[in-house]
Amino acid sequence: LTPKDLTDKKILVTAGPTREPIDPVRFISNPSSGKMGYAIARAAEYRGAEVTLIAGPVSLPDPLNINMVKVQTADQMADAVYENMEKADIIIKTAAVSDYRPRQAAPHKIKKGDENIIMELVKNQDILKTIGQRKTNQFLVGFAAETQDLRENALKKLEAKNLDIIAGNLVCRPGSGFGTDTNRISLFYRDGTLEVLEQMEKDTAAHIILDRVVERII
Ligand code: PMT
Repeated sequence: LTPKDLTDKKILVTAGPTREPIDPVRFISNPSSGKMGYAIARAAEYRGAEVTLIAGPVSLPDPLNINMVKVQTADQMADAVYENMEKADIIIKTAAVSDYRPRQAAPHKIKKGDENIIMELVKNQDILKTIGQRKTNQFLVGFAAETQDLRENALKKLEAKNLDIIAGNLVCRPGSGFGTDTNRISLFYRDGTLEVLEQMEKDTAAHIILDRVVERII
């Protein structure tokens, strides 16, 4: 039985993809289903935390007893995160934020012509990096979605974004990453240690991540 070891703690979780509009009927996005982030939010609520879940567009039911903030774009997610970060004790950024967006969304549906289209993409802000710079006492957990060199890439993000833990997953492996009910996560800690978790349900992985956070803050 999991203890109520997060009672009195405020946790901010992000989940799902963002959508960056090209025109009113098209967007740039990714296959995040929100399952990993929602599992963390539910697990934290179960353990007694006050949970705020900032979610991009997903088709999961709203979890009970959780403050939901629904967003579409990376900029909207950033605003919601910055507004809610100060009061959080723990921030877990599971969302798959689009790194780029079209410079300008067309106001009407772009009509198909004979020519190819070149679309200019501008960089979105890195929300997690900004939180890493602004954080005061918050315990910060990031995710790294990689297709190769998991250790090297995850460690770079741990350092560059000033995180306490980064949960790396190889999103091209079966049973891992986007859309699945299971994940294979490697946890990289600030002190340089690494913990490789086997393939397991996202709900179970969520509790293990929270166990590791609790061990470090309480
Ligand atoms: O939603 P599911 O279908 O369950 O899939 C789960 C998952 C694969 C989305 C999840 O396990 C995962 O890996 N989430 C992170 C996805 C991601 O965007 O990773 P990244 O390596 O590109 O980004 C690193 C970190 O920076 C992430 O914590 C991300 O939230 C954050 N980030 C990235 C870009 C950006 N502009 N702002 C950010 O805050």
